[in-house]
Amino acid sequence: MLNWDNIFATRSTRMRASEIRELLKLLERPDIISFAGGIPDPALFPDAAFKEAYNEIFSSTAVNAALQYSVSEGYKPLREWLVGEMAKLGVPCELENVFIVSGSQQGLDYLGKLFLSPNDTALVTAPTYLGALQAFNAYEPTYDQLTPNGNRTPEAYRATAEQAGGRVKFAYLSADFANPTGETIDLASREKLIDLADELDIAIIEDAAYQSLRYDGEGIPPILALEIARKGNINDTRTIYCGSFSKTLAPGLRVGFIVGNAPVIRKLVLMKQAADLHSSTINQIAIEHVARRGFDEQVAKVRKTYSHRRDCMLAALAKYMPEGTSWTKPEGGMFVWITLPKGMDGAKLLARSLETAKVAFVPGQAFFADGSGPNTFRVSFSCANDQMIDEGISRLGKLIASEIAAL
Ligand SMILES: Cc1ncc(COP(=O)(O)O)c(C=O)c1O
Repeated sequence: MLNWDNIFATRSTRMRASEIRELLKLLERPDIISFAGGIPDPALFPDAAFKEAYNEIFSSTAVNAALQYSVSEGYKPLREWLVGEMAKLGVPCELENVFIVSGSQQGLDYLGKLFLSPNDTALVTAPTYLGALQAFNAYEPTYDQLTPNGNRTPEAYRATAEQAGGRVKFAYLSADFANPTGETIDLASREKLIDLADELDIAIIEDAAYQSLRYDGEGIPPILALEIARKGNINDTRTIYCGSFSKTLAPGLRVGFIVGNAPVIRKLVLMKQAADLHSSTINQIAIEHVARRGFDEQVAKVRKTYSHRRDCMLAALAKYMPEGTSWTKPEGGMFVWITLPKGMDGAKLLARSLETAKVAFVPGQAFFADGSGPNTFRVSFSCANDQMIDEGISRLGKLIASEIAAL
């Protein structure tokens, strides 16, 4: 009798479809107001610029190269453009420090593969990006909670990792406008994190997927920039910066990038050769065309729209959320994180909300490596207009008020 469980590798036991994702698949229904998806608004895609880029590629002799295999490091002009962009962020680097991936999600998978042996420890914030947990899970790590500004000593982290049968390998975090909380790590905490990583001798994986989407407040240098400022050269740093074009240009082309020290980049290139040879040649060329001609204008357009939606979301939460709830006040990104009174359950609330209030969101528990945080949930404002936000949060506020009253 065929029993796949005898044949699958042990790592596959940690790959499970989440119930929530299954539930959220039902959200195509037109009567539901959804704040669940964390995706960019397609109305903001620079589709005309992409059309022009592909037309140009197809009407020149370059089309042959665009349709051909290419190098695993990525399309050189795109990497050159990224060298210039990184310099603006305080990250002086060379071509050898920039590597193109098929979306930053692939970068997270590669970094998990590169660093984690079974039972090694990955430090992650609580909550953290669910996709990072999914990427790392395949490499059978244990997790410990990263508190960038916290008071855990390196010895404490080390002892917990040894107990789990491995060592701490990296700290993963989004420093700017994290998914799911929308929160930003302050400058002092970034510096402390570098101290911690130096003391533990581990890597820092800086997920910068939302880095360009700041709507107000002062920009804070990336952790990689702060580390280069201390150590003088990117090749002496331990921070690996994962960037993405998904939130600024378009996710469908699957183009992201990793910037970091040359020895790590060289290993990642070998990994890519084994995994998929290289990212889509033609899509990298198209991204380079569009980015070089109008990246800043595109980012300004995206920021303007999302900033307004963030304002609407925060105004609606202030107006309709009952006593006992609290929420983050993000300065950028796509998300607000809501905390309910203790004893409430975001997953149960979602089930009831889909039935009565007809509003969708993502319950928070899945974002915690240890499965805690039942009384939390994430809302995204990226694809909702003013009226949807006001109406949806009003309905949700009423439902939550009645649930609190029944506690
Ligand atoms: C924090 C974070 N990192 C990485 C990704 C992956 O993005 P991509 O693979 O499209 O670059 C996402 C996507 O939602 C994200 O929210």
